[in-house]
Amino acid sequence: MSSMSAARHGLSTRMESMREYQQFAQFYDALMGDGSSRSARILEAIDRFDVDATSLLELGCGTGSVLDGLDSIPTLVGLDASAGMLSAAAAKVPSAELVLGDMADFDLGTTFDVVACVYDTVNHLVNYELWESLFEGVARHLKPGGLFIFDLNTTGRLHQLVASPPWVHDFDGNTLIMNVRSNGDEATIWDIRVFASSGDGTFTLHHENIQELGVALETVRTTLATEFDLLHEEDDSGGLPTDESSRAYFVYRRLG
Ligand SMILES: C[S@@+](CC[C@H](N)C(=O)[O-])C[C@H]1O[C@@H](n2cnc3c(N)ncnc32)[C@H](O)[C@@H]1O
Repeated sequence: MSSMSAARHGLSTRMESMREYQQFAQFYDALMGDGSSRSARILEAIDRFDVDATSLLELGCGTGSVLDGLDSIPTLVGLDASAGMLSAAAAKVPSAELVLGDMADFDLGTTFDVVACVYDTVNHLVNYELWESLFEGVARHLKPGGLFIFDLNTTGRLHQLVASPPWVHDFDGNTLIMNVRSNGDEATIWDIRVFASSGDGTFTLHHENIQELGVALETVRTTLATEFDLLHEEDDSGGLPTDESSRAYFVYRRLG
């Protein structure tokens, strides 16, 4: 049975002020599709680097679409800051333990064979100190030799989104308008509006701002080098990622 709990030491003040993915949660799966390609990438890394994965933690697990494709792993734990996203995950992946918590500040009191954080979830931390804190949390929660699998939106990708016109998309009778704008330096605000059909010709507006930060890949590599070995990195076309790639995928191994 799925269980949902709050991270060990209660909710931090930062957590209490986090309001992202509350409005968006109910539309997330319809807009983002299933997570099977993200699950497949994780399974491929586990296989390639020959890890006996009996436990996996996903940070920012959202609606559980990635965990859903990882049910060959006996112990699955998902952590997310949005109760709305977690309630969708509880229905989708009843076997997973789900934790309401902040991926930049968590203590689950156990270690895992694999920690994953995918679909530009790390970018949601809005300053680099929080990224460092997440990386420290990952190191604390990984067994020696365990894998840290994650991806990032690059600075180039975020610049490109800021320069692009808003994305307008009709789905299930509703309309999404998403506009990514700069919030200074490498910070961006994703202004998301969903006009949801009430079925009688009227619409209800659901509005939410989500923030993402871009960080140079070399900064991330340098931070991780103290506690991890870089096993693999690639971009969407399988080449070495640069700050101009659309997305960067990493597999690291915990030292020790
Ligand atoms: C783009 S979604 C990805 C969800 C899932 N990993 C997937 O691939 O479908 C990002 C998720 O990160 C969560 N998130 C953002 N900031 C967080 C934080 N500080 N701690 C925990 N979860 C966070 C959001 O609530 C959201 O569910």
